[in-house]
Amino acid sequence: MWTKLPSAGREPGAGWCGRCELAPALGGAAAANSPRRWVVRPLRTRPGAGWCGRRELAPALFAPPSTPLPLLLRIPNASPILLPTMTLPTSQFSMPTAVRFGHGEIRNLVTHLEWIGAKRPLVVTDPGMLSTKAFASLKEILDNGVLPWALFGKVLPNPTEDNVDEATEIFRSGGHDSLVAIGGGSAIDLAKAVAVRTGYEGPLEDFTPAPRGAAPLAPIVAIPTTAGTGSEVGRSSVIILRKTGRKAVLFDPRLMPAVALLDPDLTLELPPKLTAATGMDAFTHCLESYVSNVFHPVADSIALGGLELVIRNLTTAVKDGGNPEARGYMMIAAMMGALAFQKDLGAAHSMAHPLSSISGLHHGLANAIVLPTVMEFNREVVKDRFARVATLFDPKVALLSEEEASHLAITKVRGLNAEIGIPARLRDAGVKESDLPALAEGALHDGCHATNPRACTLDDFRSLFREAY
Ligand SMILES: [Fe+2]
Repeated sequence: MWTKLPSAGREPGAGWCGRCELAPALGGAAAANSPRRWVVRPLRTRPGAGWCGRRELAPALFAPPSTPLPLLLRIPNASPILLPTMTLPTSQFSMPTAVRFGHGEIRNLVTHLEWIGAKRPLVVTDPGMLSTKAFASLKEILDNGVLPWALFGKVLPNPTEDNVDEATEIFRSGGHDSLVAIGGGSAIDLAKAVAVRTGYEGPLEDFTPAPRGAAPLAPIVAIPTTAGTGSEVGRSSVIILRKTGRKAVLFDPRLMPAVALLDPDLTLELPPKLTAATGMDAFTHCLESYVSNVFHPVADSIALGGLELVIRNLTTAVKDGGNPEARGYMMIAAMMGALAFQKDLGAAHSMAHPLSSISGLHHGLANAIVLPTVMEFNREVVKDRFARVATLFDPKVALLSEEEASHLAITKVRGLNAEIGIPARLRDAGVKESDLPALAEGALHDGCHATNPRACTLDDFRSLFREAY
């Protein structure tokens, strides 16, 4: 159908989606005077890949993959369209986890299990969870339901391949078909690795991405009891490998849980220090992904939304843990952080990982302490983005220069840390000075800084650790 095409004289950028302004020949004199350089070039695209959904307006653009399109598009009753050079990179987005959010949502667990076709779920959690009210709720709900279930309650704080094998053996011998992961990131990560084992026998570390021909994985219902990692909507799982003793990141969209059940009531027991540390982990996910050098405008918007939620709610969640709204918004913020870090992270996470494995620091606490130092390091190359972050703390910042606002963003993050009781320096958190050389080496070998907006060398990491110490 060609009849809906705009007529000559239409102003560029005046309608449809933003990409309609790519057709200046339709725009009359205003377009002819545009300073943009227009060239004729071949374009390759694929069905469903573009524009504003009004694909009937330009059917030739939705040709099968790899079909070269005409150099010059001719449309009846209109001038030819000259295609401009596009500077935006090609990218891929996918965000499909079903999220079920609400106070008391755990009461609907059996419904969610039936929805994904579960008949015999295996619950995985860590030993510390077994005595909590959250686990008692889950147990009562499953006991009163019609589905037979069993428990693997030995998830380690940093799950190992042996830990995965042990749980997998229970999954197989019990004839289970699905997983319910309740707890922090470790329980959810372990459930993901057990799910991998239900469809794939090869080395765990090679499931990044899933090899061709890997069978479908057992579905997971993920129930977080902290608001930080966002692993419930994430596509990765961190497991310590048997042969190397190092953490491997399994990464594939198939690892995303089928359902993320977000019930803020389950986080009410979280003590203030853990609330602060996990909350700053979520904040760091949002901030690092927002400034990472990957092109993902969808994730950028989610990251900004997540940052705003943390800024408005974390202090309340720490100081008034029983506040249901603050707990609820923090759960949403954590989920948004994990959605955003499809863009990947940055140098703060590269520093936080060895701070946990070498110095024993909580992951979120490590991120919170090093983040302002990493922001100082990055500021020069992402001033505009930091200036935007500053406006989330205080809209009046919009009146400042980009230079001033970008500095202020760092000051505000330091202030947030202080407000929620995060130590200002690594030494205050018990990190030994003698650890610093190994920490710098560990950070350099961590993959997260590959997407940091500013490249990091070993000397840079030495300086960053020294400054944060
Ligand atoms: Fe993190």
